Amino acid sequence: MSGDIAGKVAWVTGASSGLGHRFAQVLAGEGAVVALSARRGGRLELLGAEIAAAGGRALVLPLDMQDVAAIRAAAARIADELGPIDILVNNAGISRQARLEAFAEADYDVVMNVDVKGAFFAAQEAARQMIAHQRQGRIVNIASIAAFRALGQQAPYSMAKAALVAMTKCQAKEWGRHGINSNAICPGYIRTEIGGDFWDTEGGAKLIAGLPRRRMGEARDLDGLLKLLCSGEASRFINGAAMVADDGAMA
Ligand SMILES: NC(=O)c1ccc[n+]([C@@H]2O[C@H](COP(=O)([O-])OP(=O)(O)OC[C@H]3O[C@@H](n4cnc5c(N)ncnc54)[C@H](OP(=O)(O)O)[C@@H]3O)[C@@H](O)[C@H]2O)c1
Repeated sequence: MSGDIAGKVAWVTGASSGLGHRFAQVLAGEGAVVALSARRGGRLELLGAEIAAAGGRALVLPLDMQDVAAIRAAAARIADELGPIDILVNNAGISRQARLEAFAEADYDVVMNVDVKGAFFAAQEAARQMIAHQRQGRIVNIASIAAFRALGQQAPYSMAKAALVAMTKCQAKEWGRHGINSNAICPGYIRTEIGGDFWDTEGGAKLIAGLPRRRMGEARDLDGLLKLLCSGEASRFINGAAMVADDGAMA
């Protein structure tokens, strides 16, 4: 299915932990050359070394997704050092928790700046390269089931993920003619750092007990969808989709 990922240049944002770390491993395993970005450069270096030890190639780009100039500079370095971007996995994300009436402006801003603004400008940079070099581009925006349902005390996060789904459709409409397919993956509950210690609390246990299979997902549960949406041939007719992978959580 995904043999055509080999040799492609893939940029994974938020590659220092959780899903992004896994996405980078999967794409490198498929033979892509991967650019890894996040704030925690030490973690990216470790992942880059692991990929190199397995015979792959990785470029480490520490950056803050709130800094659009840094996003632009990273995209330029990828083009210079690896070649034009073929695949963007727009994965970096953050959440802040508080009741709507108590939500602090600074927390609102960080969620919107990382999850929406950062993703918007990373996609813009990737698409500019794809258009200029006539690449068969693939953009995978990591949204969430939070785009469709209200999570407890995370209104800006839900709003941001709904914006990513809307952004995905806009990208599909405007960039499809350039051979770029843009899709969103909307994961359900997967244990990573973003959930903090919530899953060990009574509330977390209750939520898990209410899931159809009474279990959370693992990062590897998104491998198939990622490979499908990054593949040139297998995803030819998939553009503008928001694909839910939640093990029935929203059913
Ligand atoms: N886990 C789930 O259940 C779930 C469900 C639905 C959607 N998602 C989405 O999946 C994506 C990955 O999250 P995760 O679950 O893997 O959580 P995670 O382990 O907390 O990973 C988040 C990633 O985003 C990066 N990041 C956060 N703020 C950043 C900033 N200002 N600049 C650059 N990078 C930043 C983090 O790196 P640094 O801290 O090193 O910067 C980290 O690599 C997110 O978009 C999240 O919303 C997760």
